[in-house]
Amino acid sequence: MKSNVTVVILAAGLGTRMRSEKAKVLHEAGGETILNHVIRAALHVADPEQIIAVVGHQADRVKESVTTPGIQFAEQSEQKGTGHAVLCARAHVSSEKGELLILNGDGPLLKPSTLQSVLELHRRRQLGGAIVTTEISDPTGYGRIARDSSGLVAAIVEQKSASPNQLAIREINPGVYAFDAALFWAHIGELTPNNTAKEYYLTDMVAILTAHGHPVAPLLVEDETELLGINTRVELAAADRILRSRKTTDLMLAGVTIENPDSVLIDVDVQVGQDTVIESNVQLRGRTRVGGNCRIGAGSVLRNCEVADDVVIFPYVCADASKIHSAFVGPFARLRMNTEAAAGTHIGNFVELKNTRLGEGSKANHLAYLGDATIGSDVNVGAGAITCNYDGLHKHPTRIGDKVFVGTNSTLIAPLEIGQGAYIAAGSVITKNVDPDALAIGRSHQAVKPGWAKRRREIQEQERS
Ligand code: UD1
Ligand code: CA
Repeated sequence: MKSNVTVVILAAGLGTRMRSEKAKVLHEAGGETILNHVIRAALHVADPEQIIAVVGHQADRVKESVTTPGIQFAEQSEQKGTGHAVLCARAHVSSEKGELLILNGDGPLLKPSTLQSVLELHRRRQLGGAIVTTEISDPTGYGRIARDSSGLVAAIVEQKSASPNQLAIREINPGVYAFDAALFWAHIGELTPNNTAKEYYLTDMVAILTAHGHPVAPLLVEDETELLGINTRVELAAADRILRSRKTTDLMLAGVTIENPDSVLIDVDVQVGQDTVIESNVQLRGRTRVGGNCRIGAGSVLRNCEVADDVVIFPYVCADASKIHSAFVGPFARLRMNTEAAAGTHIGNFVELKNTRLGEGSKANHLAYLGDATIGSDVNVGAGAITCNYDGLHKHPTRIGDKVFVGTNSTLIAPLEIGQGAYIAAGSVITKNVDPDALAIGRSHQAVKPGWAKRRREIQEQERS
C-alpha cells in the first residue's frame, strides 16, 4: 500500500453541456479518456485498490473504459450532488482513517505533483483538511473560496448561493480535496440539500468541519490551466491542446526532434527514442513505440505500432498494429493488422500489407498488395504484384519462400505456396503451387502480326480522303 490514502473520483454525472449521448468522462483528450487521466494522476499517491470511482451515467461503459486493473467502482444511480456521490463510495472504503482525497472526475490536466503537495500540506498542518485553490480571471460557475482572517478556507460558496461580494472573488475551488478521513466520515451526515439546486454539496463539508473546530488549509496553485474542469467541447479541445503540448515538451526534453510541435498529435502512452526526428503533421496514436534515430515523415499516422531503431518512414504512411523493423517505408504505404516487416525490408510507395510477414531484406518497392502472406527473406516483389487472398467468402494464405522473385504485375491466387528460390515471370497469373527454384509463367503467348499497324493506318487515310 502506497500510504493510508483513499481516493474517491466523482464521475457519475452526464455532463449536460457536452451535448453528447456519451457520459462526459468518456470523452477523450490527449488520446485518453478524461477519467483515465484523473486515475493516472491518482495512481501516484494510491494503489488501484485504494481508488474508488463513483459512476452513474452509463456506468457500464464508464467501468469498461477504465484501463487500470484493480480500480473499485461505486454506483450512484441518481445524481443528487457531489456530497451524495462521496457517500455512495463509503461502502467501498476499506479504512476510514488516514487521508481521504476527493477528485472531480472531469479535470484531466491535474498533475501528480499537485496531489502530492496537497496531501503534504494536510499532513503538515493536521487540520480538517487541505484543498487546492486557484485564481482565474472569469470565475463564473465555480465555487468561490471564502477565507477567514487567518487565511484558512472558511467555506466554499457555490455560484448559485453566492452574494454579489462573494461572486467577485476570483479564487475558486477546482475540485481537489484532501480531508482527514475520520473527521470527514464522522460529519458527512450533516450535509443537507438545503440550497437552490436541492443537491448535497460536497463543498459544504468545509464549513461543517470549520464549525467543529477543524478548518481547512488552502493550497493556492499558480498554473490555473492544470485545474481546468471540462464542461464543454471547447474546454475539451483546450485540454487536448495542453496535454499534447506537455507530451511533445517531454519528448523534446528527452532528446526527440519535433520539427513543428504544434502540428503533431502524440498520445500520452507513446514512446519515442533518442534522436528520432518527427516531421510536421505526424500522428502517433495509442501504444505506439518508436525506437531511436528514426525519421517519421510528414503526415504519417501510426497507431499501436512498434518501430525499431534507425527506421525511415517517408511521408504519408498509415500503419496500424504493425511491427516495423524496415530500412524504409513509404511514401504513401499502408500497413495493418499485425503486419511484420523485418530488418532491412523496403516497403515503397503505394504498397499495402495486411496481416503479412515480410522477411529480412525483402523488398516491395512499388504498387503492391500483400495480404495474409508469409514472405521469406531476400524476396523481390515487383511493381503491381497482388496476392488475391479473398474469394468473396474466405481469406486464404500465400507462402513465399526465401529468395523468390515475383515479377511485375503478378497475380498470386491464394491459397498458394511458392518454393524457395522460384522465379515468377512478370504478368503471370499463378493459380498452382510453384516448386523451389522453378520458373513459373502463367500468361498467354504473344502474337505478332508483321505490318498490321501500317496497313491499318493506310486504310484510315483512304477513308479520310
Ligand atoms: C463543482 C463544485 C464547485 C467547483 C467545480 C469545479 C460542488 C457542489 N461544486 O461544481 O465548487 O468549483 O466543481 O469544477 O461540488 N458528480 C457526481 N455525482 C453528482 C454530481 C456530480 O459524480 O451527483 C461528478 C460529476 O460527474 C463531475 C464532478 O462530480 O465529474 C463535478 O460535478 P459538476 O456537476 O461538474 O460540478 P460543478 O457544478 O462544476
Ligand atoms: Ca464541473
